[in-house]
Amino acid sequence: MSESEQLTELAKRRGFFLQTAGVYGGVAGFYTYGPAGATLKDNLEAAWRDRFVTREGHMEIDAPTVMPEPVFEASGHLDGFDDMIIECVECGASHRADHLVEDYPELDVEDAEALPTEEVAELIAEHEIACPACGASLAGEPVEEFNLMFATNIGPGSSSPGYLRPETAQGIFVEFPQLAEYARNQLPFGVAQIGKAYRNEISPRKALIRVREFTQAELEHFIDPEADEPPLERVADVTLPLYSVEQQQADDGEIQEVTVTEAIEEGIIESDWVAFYLGLAKGWYERIGVDMDRFRYRQHLPGELAHYAADCWDAEAELAGDWVEVTGFATRGSYDLDKHAEHSGEEFSVFKQYDEPITVERPTVDPEMSYLGPEFGDAAGEIVAALESLAERDPDAFDGETVTVEAGGEEYEIPVEQTGFAIEEVTESGEHVTPEVIEPSFGVGRLVYTVLAHAYEEDVVDDEERTYLSLPPELAPTTVGVFPLMDKDGLGEKAQELAGELREAGLSVTYDDAGAIGRRYRRQDEVGTPFCVTVDYETLEDGTVTVRERDSTEQARVDVDGLGAVLSALRDGEQSFGEL
Ligand code: GAP
Repeated sequence: MSESEQLTELAKRRGFFLQTAGVYGGVAGFYTYGPAGATLKDNLEAAWRDRFVTREGHMEIDAPTVMPEPVFEASGHLDGFDDMIIECVECGASHRADHLVEDYPELDVEDAEALPTEEVAELIAEHEIACPACGASLAGEPVEEFNLMFATNIGPGSSSPGYLRPETAQGIFVEFPQLAEYARNQLPFGVAQIGKAYRNEISPRKALIRVREFTQAELEHFIDPEADEPPLERVADVTLPLYSVEQQQADDGEIQEVTVTEAIEEGIIESDWVAFYLGLAKGWYERIGVDMDRFRYRQHLPGELAHYAADCWDAEAELAGDWVEVTGFATRGSYDLDKHAEHSGEEFSVFKQYDEPITVERPTVDPEMSYLGPEFGDAAGEIVAALESLAERDPDAFDGETVTVEAGGEEYEIPVEQTGFAIEEVTESGEHVTPEVIEPSFGVGRLVYTVLAHAYEEDVVDDEERTYLSLPPELAPTTVGVFPLMDKDGLGEKAQELAGELREAGLSVTYDDAGAIGRRYRRQDEVGTPFCVTVDYETLEDGTVTVRERDSTEQARVDVDGLGAVLSALRDGEQSFGEL
């Protein structure tokens, strides 16, 4: 079995995840988290919230997953959120054309998404790439853009089209005017959201890695690019494994291990804010159990950038030999706020108060309508707007006898004396600033999968092969397995009582009295339970139990009194097992 098959098999058997609606043959791109998986996912989200929301002092919102059409017209998703599709005429299967090119062994193309559709079609034709479903040649088939949005209707009829959100971010951007009020119009501020996103992927694959419904944990950090700086001192010495555009394009390109400070000083990472988040996130990935030997930050190639992004670094995890994006760290500039301002006509900026009012010279126009009206008729209104805009952009244009403006595709020459041009002195108490956005966007499902894959271990204990998940205790679905050595002589009752007490102490506990003790340990090992407690005859005599640690399989005798506090300390990393 391959690494991913082993994991998918374990995931189903132990209740992490399974394909949705299997009884009806399943549906591609949809997975249901079982009891263990749902808890693991909750724990991962709690760790994310702790790191990126609570400890950073950001806000969190919860917006609907369905949004009306204007939201996505403005955001650009209706026009630009496409993948390349190619269809097989023989069997009717659809495929991601860029993935076919990337997966073709004789072609060394890492990022076909960055290529134009025609070039991808040419590569498929040239190499006679075959349909993965039926083996027929796809040469000559057209490669087209396919929009990934799921469409629906809001209410009966079709008068109010809506879409399932393809990213949680838009739910934050559309509420910016109100969110800025909650932040008392003080930049910088961050707004987070954890929730479902939907993409009608052409070919979902690799279990949770490419699905059609998935959870994102996104942070939109609104900053004043002229004034706000990240607290770089907190991450200055964190080492980042960086795979920059330059290294990707070099013949012998490699991952560079540099500190956050070096990455900025050497110009590898352009944005200080992105560098800050790469540093902050690295510690968090370690905390949730991502193997740092199977991890890197890769910069997007220019053609790979999303329509809204100015630059982007992906956190990538190595899974079964492939590098998979688990998080995108994008600089979105003011793209989204500008677009929503333009489409809604509302103000998507904050008013930044100066420490003291300042006096500035402001070019103004006050055109003579009794001249413009008779002279230019219906075009007069547009000419006034053009004069106002020109005065602001290029006051020197009003230096001569006449000034030329363009309105409605025509050029007009206007005597300057009829424009009422003047330079006025005005006192200003502040200015409107449209913030720029720094966006760390985490795929929760991909992280759950990564954490499971990187925690998957096999060894031999007591001459028996064992599989275990070396999950950090903070993430493990169950913290403690409680077993009676045998279900007789009062051991079962004592163990049940202890399990109840540990649950009351806030621990996640599983009780198991079925089968040999070794088998019970194996079951908990496979689900990643870090500690098991066995109640035996000694417990009845001296009030101690055996506590066993999952990874080392070491055991220690511990008093039942205060056991909840001990196990909580072990879970929270305040005490090590060795100290017992
Ligand atoms: N708001 C920015 C944004 O959505 P993205 O790179 O398209 O950026 C962010 O998505 C993260 O969401 C990715 O890094 C990935 O972890 C996750 N993701 C995206 N598409 C996915 C899919 N089809 N299945 C599972 N996770 C996905």
